[in-house]
Amino acid sequence: VQMSPSIIAIDGYAGSGKSSTARAVAERLGFAHLDSGSLYRAFTLAALDGGVPLDGEVIAALGRSLPIRLALTVDGFRPETAGVDVSRAVRGDRVTAHVSAVSALPAVRDAVNLILRRAAELHPRGVVVDGRDIGTVVFPDALVKVFLIASPDERARRRLRQDGKQVDPDRVQSQAMNLEARDAADSSRPVAPLVAATDAVEIDTTTLRFEEQVERVVALARKAFA
Ligand code: DC
Repeated sequence: VQMSPSIIAIDGYAGSGKSSTARAVAERLGFAHLDSGSLYRAFTLAALDGGVPLDGEVIAALGRSLPIRLALTVDGFRPETAGVDVSRAVRGDRVTAHVSAVSALPAVRDAVNLILRRAAELHPRGVVVDGRDIGTVVFPDALVKVFLIASPDERARRRLRQDGKQVDPDRVQSQAMNLEARDAADSSRPVAPLVAATDAVEIDTTTLRFEEQVERVVALARKAFA
């Protein structure tokens, strides 16, 4: 009998708390966290640095040759490009401005999905994977699927704090517009659009404390994997 890894899929809009929730849930369960957005960002960074055209096959080939991969460390998986940890570099504004366009390319999506599925197989206990299409496309058989939502303003505040920026009304407003533009692009693309899986549990985190949203996902997981 082949054991398939336990998989928790967390999808949702930008800034809804997917990555921080996924990381905390993984820690609680002894699973590893896989941040699919960080891989789309690593491909985007490589394309920008390499000065290559916006062509999926070209960018996917660049990713294979560098290579771009997820490296398992004591704190979980992190994106590496040509052996260098890029987890901080991929958070830059230039990458953020271009990542929706790069992530819309089918060849790039295939490359990212391959890396995610291999990493999941590698981990003996299980993985918590966050993104936009994890429960719908990448791991449609995941036993736990969560779709996180939160108001645009709350998501903007969280993203500003996460990026170490000041949280003032002007910044919140422009950040919220930014996030909504990216969500609109991600939701309307023809390939793997951002949409909740029909069997996903929707959690609105606007007024939840962080520990509460983590606890809800952990509770779903304990029930599913019991
Ligand atoms: O979660 P994030 O902001 O780091 O994601 C960056 C971009 O990558 C986001 O705008 C959409 C894309 N993405 C995607 O298309 N599919 C995923 N599974 C994860 C991210």
